[in-house]
Amino acid sequence: MSLQTTVKHGPGSIELPRGPSPLVKAHELLFAHFERPDLDKAEAYLCDFGLVRAEKSDNELFMRGAGPKPYIYRITRGPRARFLGLGLSVSEAENLETLAKAFGSRVECAGGPGGGFVVRLRDPQGIEVEVLHGMTPSTPLPVRPPIQHNAPTHIVRVNDTQRPKFEPPQVTKLGHLVLETPDFDRSVRWYIDTFGFIPSDVMCLPDGTPIGSFMRLDRGAEPTDHHTLFVSTGLESKVDHVAFEVIDLDAVEMGQQVMMANSYRHAWGVGRHLLGSQIFDYWRDPWGQKHEHYADGDLFDADQPPGYHLMDREGLYQWGPDLPDDFIDARLTARRLWNLLKIAANDRARFRRMLALKDSLSRPSRKWQR
Ligand SMILES: [Fe+2]
Repeated sequence: MSLQTTVKHGPGSIELPRGPSPLVKAHELLFAHFERPDLDKAEAYLCDFGLVRAEKSDNELFMRGAGPKPYIYRITRGPRARFLGLGLSVSEAENLETLAKAFGSRVECAGGPGGGFVVRLRDPQGIEVEVLHGMTPSTPLPVRPPIQHNAPTHIVRVNDTQRPKFEPPQVTKLGHLVLETPDFDRSVRWYIDTFGFIPSDVMCLPDGTPIGSFMRLDRGAEPTDHHTLFVSTGLESKVDHVAFEVIDLDAVEMGQQVMMANSYRHAWGVGRHLLGSQIFDYWRDPWGQKHEHYADGDLFDADQPPGYHLMDREGLYQWGPDLPDDFIDARLTARRLWNLLKIAANDRARFRRMLALKDSLSRPSRKWQR
């Protein structure tokens, strides 16, 4: 059998084209922003996960990785546990003016570690997108070098051992966010046309209709991660998971040991994804939010054309345990039911696509894992 899930795409198929002239080009993914009722509890989880405190006050917590970004995770104290937004950077100060003018916003001084200037936008689903320029980078923290592996044809270690430390894996950066939206077409176009995101691999229903897109930053000839943003069809606007890069497979696996030792709730892994190729492991924070450790992902430059693939469980991984049934939260809460009823009443085609997606994802994957 084949793990390839490419769907036929040709004349007459629905394409997900690049933005011919995006408003600006996002340069980096900077941070994820959450509201949490307990900053201490949030910090304890993130420290075990491998982040480091950058700054903390009564109402704000900023966490960093080992890289030069002043922070990659921001938490604001509040009554609810919810995703608030994300931060992107642009490489030119004029880009902020362009965005402010286009969206009727303004350029302000950014608070928080690193300072700089910011324009605050809302995506079509109301998620706050803070676009920054001019942050002062922090001094990177030392990171252990990646482990070199002995292979029968490539001996690199003699009279020596492999003993990675039992400690939280060093998070090197925030790698990607997965956003769910009840209006995929509108949301995905907004990110493509506003920030120049490039579809790397597009997930489709069996009839070829796109319903999810892995997207990367456009940095021309400079290779960038296969995806910095994955926008996918969902019953409500939310973040499915936030993903953090670690140095290698041993860091992913030792991270699992540390998270197990601290009795956190495991979500999925260790395995290797198909699209993007990352070795992954997912853990839930005290409020159920999924956080991914990953290593060894693909990098594409801007020339790489998109792939089109069937959205099903089979296509989510190459090896590892099967996708747990509770990984994708499809419970029909009152808000989701209300969203679904609105879509059923106003947009039959979109309603049918949602049912087809549910059907596709609920089909069992590999028979040897049932
Ligand atoms: Fe991921």
